[in-house]
Amino acid sequence: MTEQLLIKTSRTIPAATATMVLFAAEGKAPRGVAKDLLESTGRKWKKLAQAADFSGTLGQSFSLLAPTGVRADRLVVFGLGDPDAVTDMPATRTLCQDMGGKLMGVLGRLPGDSATLVLSDTGMPPEAVAHMMAGMHLRHYRFDKYKTGQDEDDGNGADRDRLTLNLVVDDKAATDRLLASAMASVQGTLLARDLVHEPPNVLGPQEFAEKARALEKLGVKVEILDAARLEKLGMGALLAVARGAARPARVAVMQWQGGRRGDDPVAFVGKGVVFDTGGISIKPAGSMQNMKADMAGAAAVTGLMKALALRKARCNAVGVIGLVENMPDGNAYRPGDIIPAMSGTTIEVVNTDCEGRMVLADLLWYTQERFAPRFMVNLATLTGAIMVALGQDYAGLFANDDELARDLVAAGSISGEKLWRMPLGDAYDKLIKSRFADIKNAGGRYGGAITAAQFLQKFVNDTPWAHLDIAGVGFATPSCDTNQSWASGFGVAVLDQLVRDHCENKD
Ligand code: BES
Ligand code: MN
Ligand code: ZN
Repeated sequence: MTEQLLIKTSRTIPAATATMVLFAAEGKAPRGVAKDLLESTGRKWKKLAQAADFSGTLGQSFSLLAPTGVRADRLVVFGLGDPDAVTDMPATRTLCQDMGGKLMGVLGRLPGDSATLVLSDTGMPPEAVAHMMAGMHLRHYRFDKYKTGQDEDDGNGADRDRLTLNLVVDDKAATDRLLASAMASVQGTLLARDLVHEPPNVLGPQEFAEKARALEKLGVKVEILDAARLEKLGMGALLAVARGAARPARVAVMQWQGGRRGDDPVAFVGKGVVFDTGGISIKPAGSMQNMKADMAGAAAVTGLMKALALRKARCNAVGVIGLVENMPDGNAYRPGDIIPAMSGTTIEVVNTDCEGRMVLADLLWYTQERFAPRFMVNLATLTGAIMVALGQDYAGLFANDDELARDLVAAGSISGEKLWRMPLGDAYDKLIKSRFADIKNAGGRYGGAITAAQFLQKFVNDTPWAHLDIAGVGFATPSCDTNQSWASGFGVAVLDQLVRDHCENKD
């Protein structure tokens, strides 16, 4: 869960701490304060480094236990790698995040509930420190609220619920400011991870909507549209998906107004299928439990709104999430049904498991019509096909606007949430042409991620728009330096970066 890491900064070494961390760059001894501390133990650097086979490559570390002359139970020396690498911001932001993740991997296995990180005199600029801390916080995250007993050590600090980090830094003011900014994004990512992890019996459409509502205390304006309201609005496609479920649909609309009054907002739209059985076109049983994560797009949008509010972003942004459950039932929508979408377009349902695009069709239409946004970006665990195409490292990016696509790719490489652009085009229209209606909700086997995107494009009108297919990156991704949990929270960091670059042009 999210609030267990406390970070404090100061210019001086605080009183006693369980673990003191000193940093050494590749091939170099610790400098400045760290050098003095090491000398006060009476040990010689050369000998220590040699005995530990330590050269300072990134992520390498060794410990000195019960050191004399230092008020700590242990001293950890951590390798920074190439010292010049981390000064090249923002290009090396992901390097700093990963470095923080690696360090948390080391600290997580040690006893004690506090650590002092001597970052002064390392040459790391405040921005690098901030992103390193972001990496530490992301790595520290675990989702274990439903575990009642004391779990055995999972090698990831099972006994380390609470941890206080004291940072000793050169420039406290700048570090504090940049830390707050970076941590806002982290808190958004962690909220998204929490939401994705929640089981589907606990997090239904209404419960998810309440999580969105909780952002009101941060100054986000939140409206929750119930099924009757959605009916009035004519959201036939979204409602069709919800028809088989006992728990009715909700749409949550979140608005952050941190920009100039009257400026058109940017909009983010999320697929929030709280559970996807496939409906009447039911999925095979194997791994169906993973479909609790079919709301990862909506989770990312909610996390993003939290991040923007926490750092008081100077922009106007709206987040619109469609919350439904896709269940088989006597009342469920069926293959063969023809459904009028809010836009007026008629959709022939040929596969009820292609429900995400039904939900997004109405959300996208509603969002552009109501808000006339400068651009809209939707996020969705939309297709298994995107996993076949891109694996679990890149999310698929589809866009009708080259500038938006370029900005997204750039924000992706800065944040570490990587995007790969995929094609759209009229040539794909024939694959989703329907014999009986304007369009059908599934193409054939080929180009499954593309035909899904091509379908969405029919509902964006002429708004600059991008679609991120996060089916491969939102959950069940391999462990990495900054995440060892099941859900990734993918989307918050890249979109927060997009807002910074595109709308605010700061930090
Ligand atoms: N939510 C799924 C896509 C998905 C699959 C996400 C696996 C994450 C992991 C989506 O609603 C879906 O069922 N898509 C189908 C489309 C197909 C029936 C044309 C798919 O990809 O199998
Ligand atoms: Mn489905
Ligand atoms: Zn789905």
